[in-house]
Amino acid sequence: METIATLAYLVASVCFILALRGLSNPESARAGVLFGMGGMALAVLATLGLPHVSWSGWALVALAMLLGGSIGTIIAQRIAMTALPQLMAAFHSLVGLAAVLVALAAFYNPEAYGIGEVGDIHLQSLIEMALGLAIGAVTFTGSVIAWGKLDGKITGKPVIFPGQHPLNAGLGVAMLILLVLFCATGWAVWLWLIMGIALALGILMIIPIGGADMPVIVSMLNSYSGWAAAGIGFTLHNNLLIVTGALVGASGAILSYIMCKGMNRSFLNVLLGGFGGEQAGPAAGEHGDRTAKIGAAEDAAYLMKNAERVIIVPGYGMAVAQAQHALREMADALKHAGVDVKYAIHPVAGRMPGHMNVLLAEASVPYDEVFEMEDINRDFAQADVAYVIGANDITNPAAKNDPSSPIYGMPVLDVDKAKTVLFVKRSMGSGYAGIDNPLFYADNTYMLLGDAKKMTESIVKAME
Ligand code: TAP
Repeated sequence: METIATLAYLVASVCFILALRGLSNPESARAGVLFGMGGMALAVLATLGLPHVSWSGWALVALAMLLGGSIGTIIAQRIAMTALPQLMAAFHSLVGLAAVLVALAAFYNPEAYGIGEVGDIHLQSLIEMALGLAIGAVTFTGSVIAWGKLDGKITGKPVIFPGQHPLNAGLGVAMLILLVLFCATGWAVWLWLIMGIALALGILMIIPIGGADMPVIVSMLNSYSGWAAAGIGFTLHNNLLIVTGALVGASGAILSYIMCKGMNRSFLNVLLGGFGGEQAGPAAGEHGDRTAKIGAAEDAAYLMKNAERVIIVPGYGMAVAQAQHALREMADALKHAGVDVKYAIHPVAGRMPGHMNVLLAEASVPYDEVFEMEDINRDFAQADVAYVIGANDITNPAAKNDPSSPIYGMPVLDVDKAKTVLFVKRSMGSGYAGIDNPLFYADNTYMLLGDAKKMTESIVKAME
């Protein structure tokens, strides 16, 4: 039976790897989700089939699955696309909590885990449980704070107080000392102190980070929750959990790296906070004596219908307005009129990786019309119109030519090279980085001020 379970775990691990691979591309994402579901079902069945799982164990697992599955289904059906980052944060907090509880259970009932006896637990297991508990506790409170900030339950502004960094560093050092003490003595008091410090560190590390930087932090906490799960895997002697935890840990870390690279910021810069609205750049709407040309839906409809090539640049505002369906209708009308339509996706458009791809896929935009930044940036020079819908920072030319700009060096879409730029947004206000966009005042730019969905619907109407 054990051998069959091991084999099933191996197949499940392969399924999880295929799931991650599938999820890296919108076309294969559905298959990726199916692989993930299949792998998880196999893993659960194989675990329940292990000889030491009793009938009461079966009943408890069935009850937990029924409860968890029902709650998960309700949440998944109700959640708004824009609230996904906070949902992820909430889910990660549960992984962290699970790691803490498993470590405590293993410490107080080591016989059940085959790791020794009370007061005489194997050294290797002490190390595993202490690390799993510490990472789990940081993940738990850190994720709760991230959820609170993203959901507006607590202030999204960085909470900074004097001596914060030395305090965090001091707590980090204290935790390392306690880890050594615990592994040397196996005393419960050290384990509880490690937990207390780790819970405090989770809060202290996340409060100084601005709400807007939270997606990077959520991805980092995702990585932590993976390592915490791998820690549980060692405690439970479960190879599948070790592999799965490592996959989540590594992929979360890579994702954080990709996001930082897309914003041209170091991870340390994100961790130390102070970005997103707190910059010294010109405030929203502050535009001195420069004037922007304000356009109307009818002008936009005329311009685009008579264009040869239109590139659509979606951003966070499209997600807020849920304008993707109206946008696809507009693109359909343009294609019908013989216009070549493409979509340009910046790696950090919106507020989470793949945000725009998911929304466009939801509106059934054909995948072959959607291009990543490096594949389409050269095409802007030949485009007649760039239709920028709810995007801002990712088009800001200051990132290319103003060394004093906070986003200088961030790769941006070369929207400014298009013959005409149409900006759909509600005001002249700034985006996530809190800085002015000089492109609003360029000679070839028209501002279409209004809600992205309503404006796009008006353009579709005007085209008819
Ligand atoms: P932003 O620069 O944040 O600009 C979004 C614009 O959408 C705003 O200027 C806003 O202007 C407009 N908007 C909001 N609601 C709207 C509505 N209902 N209708 C029309 N427009 C609306 O977004 P972006 O260009 O997508 O850039 C993303 C930013 O987020 C980057 O700075 C990036 O570094 C950051 N970020 C991204 C990620 C990931 S992984 N994607 C993670 C962390 C940070 P108005 O208020 O005037 O309407």
